[in-house]
Amino acid sequence: MNISQKRIVESPTWLSGYLYEGNLFGRPSKIKLSIENIEFYVLEGYSDKFLKKLANLIKQGVYVNPANLRDQVVYIAAKLNSNLRLNELLKDIQSEICNILNADAASILMYEQDHLRFLVTVGKASGKIESIPVPMESIAGKIFTEGKVLIFNDLEKNPIHFKGVDKAAKFKTENIVGSPIWVENEKIGVIEVLNKSGGFDKDDAEIVELFAKLIGRKLLSTWQYEKFSDAFKKVLLAIATAIDKRDNYTHQHSRNVARYSVELGRKMNLSQQLLEKLEFSAILHDVGKIGIPDSILLKPGKLTDEEYQTIKNHTVYGAEILSQIKYVDRDIMNGALEHHERLDGSGYPYGKRDGEISLFGRIIGIADVFDALSTKRTYKEAWTLSDVLRVIGEDVKKGKFSEELYEKLVELANDLNFET
Ligand SMILES: [Fe+2]
Repeated sequence: MNISQKRIVESPTWLSGYLYEGNLFGRPSKIKLSIENIEFYVLEGYSDKFLKKLANLIKQGVYVNPANLRDQVVYIAAKLNSNLRLNELLKDIQSEICNILNADAASILMYEQDHLRFLVTVGKASGKIESIPVPMESIAGKIFTEGKVLIFNDLEKNPIHFKGVDKAAKFKTENIVGSPIWVENEKIGVIEVLNKSGGFDKDDAEIVELFAKLIGRKLLSTWQYEKFSDAFKKVLLAIATAIDKRDNYTHQHSRNVARYSVELGRKMNLSQQLLEKLEFSAILHDVGKIGIPDSILLKPGKLTDEEYQTIKNHTVYGAEILSQIKYVDRDIMNGALEHHERLDGSGYPYGKRDGEISLFGRIIGIADVFDALSTKRTYKEAWTLSDVLRVIGEDVKKGKFSEELYEKLVELANDLNFET
């Protein structure tokens, strides 16, 4: 019986191909699954249950038609659109394209004036290659300049192969298929897929080219957003540093509090989105000090009750200042407002207790104390880590900080590997 006489079933988009009784149907991909002596080649997002059904059908003599290549590429490109952060987007782009082409690694390079630059690479080619500018007289440069997909199957003999990257990544590139990445009629970079045993063919080139067209806009907007938010963060840090300096704090205070807060948040399994907000909130937790007069903020001697009341207002001022920024929501504002509140009600400005204090207020609060004690100030030396943890531990016993947060702080201190 030949195929035309058989019952034909169309497969789901995630099925690239399968090997049955020594015959290959469709194409291999990187993810292989053996079910009932059939080797299936699938993309991420496949269903085990469905594969079992397909295996049964194949065994009954039904011909399962693997997914059309074009449909598969459109499917994987569409999946990428839910991703917001550049790092994750790149990882997904790379792993998906490696999977569908059955290749070892992939890189994305963006065009910057007269050279190309790697964004970030995962997989076997990962390493410190992001900082190396790739000249236009290279394979990636040639792909970009010619503006078309190209295959290089014998790199050994190719004089334009730029060895700097392989060297830095301790990776040996054997073959490459690469395409310019397009946004409408403008080239923005290059995607290269590396090392497929046996080399790349025309089908592979077609996949990469289509994929590069489909991801262009998403990649560009995510890249620009990332560049903007990095620049924005630098501006915030500059403001925070100015405030720290005025208060005779080390210029690193806001940066440190932000770093510790994010690490604590990570240990508490906060989402990426919350971690970003937490970082923003922690960088600016003391921004309200702008509203405290020098005569009080910088007073060397003991403060009067009234002066101390004024200092306490930096939390309220901070929340007020932050509320003027469109991006700022309740969580971010609470970090500034509540970082001096304590669980036992002994803090300020409101003397809130336990659950009344927001998560950001609690995290930034403990990170703030941790940094204040462990760094040198004009009025005190830096304390040793064991002293810092002992004193905060005493505060935990008094009910000021939570046991849970303290445990995370101890873990963090160990990670940071401070001298004790
Ligand atoms: Fe503060």
